[in-house]
Amino acid sequence: MAGRRAKGRREVASVQHSEGDRRDFLYLATGATAAIGAGAAIWPFISQLAPDAGTIAAGAPIEIDLAAIPDGGQIKILWRGKPYFVRSRTEAEIKAAVDVEMSALRDPQPDAARVKEGHAKWLVIAANCTHLGCVPLGNQGDYGGWFCPCHGSHFDTSGRIRKGPAPTNLPVPQYTFISDTRIRITGAAATV
Ligand code: FES
Repeated sequence: MAGRRAKGRREVASVQHSEGDRRDFLYLATGATAAIGAGAAIWPFISQLAPDAGTIAAGAPIEIDLAAIPDGGQIKILWRGKPYFVRSRTEAEIKAAVDVEMSALRDPQPDAARVKEGHAKWLVIAANCTHLGCVPLGNQGDYGGWFCPCHGSHFDTSGRIRKGPAPTNLPVPQYTFISDTRIRITGAAATV
């Protein structure tokens, strides 16, 4: 897959659908046309604003176009050298996240504290497992969120640790909605 990526790009995103082979990722060069792997479905194009290399090195915010993410899908972006997930949650996934008793959580945090008010559909989280840093697989695991295959951590649809060795939830970075369909990530969560 790596050989199909456009060269000379600095930020990449991947799209993961809720249907089909969930291990299939499409890597999209920022602002470039999509490179679609053999046998892959037609994936939507993810548009991002692409600051130049110097700006990225300085840690500039990054903007994400949510309109390009299909319902129930997610993208993975790389920003400041670290991966993040942006997930469009289904109504069932939101309900599952909201209905959890805090006493059932290892790292208790209500779903409402992990999303922006009025935007519960969108979950934005760091994509490094809080155990030893692997990148979990989306739409997998016992709780329908993410599963980390390295040592078996299960995260729910709010990115909270539910089972396995990871000690804490997948952190939520600092971000804001600049429109209904666009967010700006401005800072990593303290624990990333
Ligand atoms: S790195 Fe994820 S469970 Fe160990």
